[in-house]
Amino acid sequence: MAFAIVVGAQWGDEGKGKVVDYYAAQADIVVRFNGGANAGHTIVSGGKKFAFHHVPSGVLYPEKINIIGNGVVLEPKKFFEELSQLDAVGIKPNIRISPRVHLVMPYHMALDGAEEGKKGALAAGTTMRGIGPCYSDKAARFGIRVGELLQPALFKEKLHTMHTLKVKLLKEVYGIDFKQTEDEIYKQYTEYGKKLAPFVAETGEILADALAKKKKVLFEGAQATMLDIDHGMYPFGTSSNTSAGGACTGAGVGPTAIDEVVGVVKVYTSRVGTGPLPTELNDATGQAIRDKGGEYGTTTGRPRRIGWLDLPTLRYAARVNGLTGLAFTRLDTLSGVKTVQICTHYELDGKKLLTPPASYTDIARCKPIYKSFAGWEDIGADKWRACAKAGFKSLPKEAQVYLKYISDEVGVPIYVVGVGAARDDTIILKDVFSKKA
Ligand code: GDP
Ligand code: IMO
Ligand code: MG
Repeated sequence: MAFAIVVGAQWGDEGKGKVVDYYAAQADIVVRFNGGANAGHTIVSGGKKFAFHHVPSGVLYPEKINIIGNGVVLEPKKFFEELSQLDAVGIKPNIRISPRVHLVMPYHMALDGAEEGKKGALAAGTTMRGIGPCYSDKAARFGIRVGELLQPALFKEKLHTMHTLKVKLLKEVYGIDFKQTEDEIYKQYTEYGKKLAPFVAETGEILADALAKKKKVLFEGAQATMLDIDHGMYPFGTSSNTSAGGACTGAGVGPTAIDEVVGVVKVYTSRVGTGPLPTELNDATGQAIRDKGGEYGTTTGRPRRIGWLDLPTLRYAARVNGLTGLAFTRLDTLSGVKTVQICTHYELDGKKLLTPPASYTDIARCKPIYKSFAGWEDIGADKWRACAKAGFKSLPKEAQVYLKYISDEVGVPIYVVGVGAARDDTIILKDVFSKKA
């Protein structure tokens, strides 16, 4: 088992960074394939906490190759801030960036706010990192790619066209004065280009070589299935393919290369941003879980909306991604709740729905139907860590029942259970890189 994808199975912030960091110990290469600085992946290792936006979560192992694949959109300023954060603790990661990566430009950030402002109730509550406008330009074939920064004449010409157009758009459609001149951006981005040049490589070739040599490669999804541009709750999602198919297009490998697809599942639901959330808890229980888990966005600091675990979403994620394993996180956070609920299905217009309907307006009308489970005790950080060492059967019995029920209903086996934020607080039932179950 050599090529494995890790994706979010819900609405993001499931703990993908932590799971990737754990599995990365066995990997030769870690690849980000979608999204950009909208992602915030937290890793707690050696008592230190890191928050990564662009860099793959394998960077804490300096000997591994970390690839930023063509499906990512890169905000150079943020990227270099991340490198400085690592440099400050003595880590010099081995990063390669595809020349096909699109650049987030300053006008994309301005447009993100401008477009959100016009969308009214359909605004997704974006992270304001220019993601939608950058992917829009990519699809419209207006975008500027990392490789083009290294060709000054071409970059100058493209920037001139785009700057002229975007300044006009911002002014005449949105009434916004965009202050940064073409010259300023040219200088700033040409400098970035010089600094990026040493990282640029044909990353698809590196991966083809890895496949031929049976090396171990981990693909790290950003965002999550319900935020996918095609399969998510449109329009309340992001602008890239966050699901497993995105790993192939966003890294440049064929689907036949993939052996495993792990869906990361928080044992309850959380979401930042707007849009219907059928199992949302707007009550003291939701607030208690948010407080206990410190559920505030890694990128924006916004409070995350909290809800009960939603099986229709997970069944859907299993189908869309072809999940082969589940990585549960935050069993410790949900502990201490007397009775926990799982939404088994929705009811809509008298019908039972096992997966979410396509339209957000229908999702908003869905009634979640719950099954109650006895909660499990909070045994405290030391005992959770002891469970991580002793394995699944040492977990509180009620928690085992809860997790097995979800796995059975979704039809996907359990690979990982997280019982704390740190690398060591992890129970591994199956390592994606070993053949035996
Ligand atoms: P990502 O975007 O999917 O990588 O997730 P984030 O990093 O945005 O949010 C997940 C949060 O949960 C981070 O603060 C992690 O440190 C934390 N986390 C991950 N797994 C666990 C777990 O099993 N228990 C606890 N308590 N925290 C966890
Ligand atoms: P990670 O990788 C959670 C949400 C935003 C907004 C919508 C569109 O850390 O799980 P965008 O800025 O992408 O145009 O915003 O998607 N969103 C996320 N929510 N985790 C993320 O990433 C997210 N990235 C974007 O809140 O609703
Ligand atoms: Mg996150």
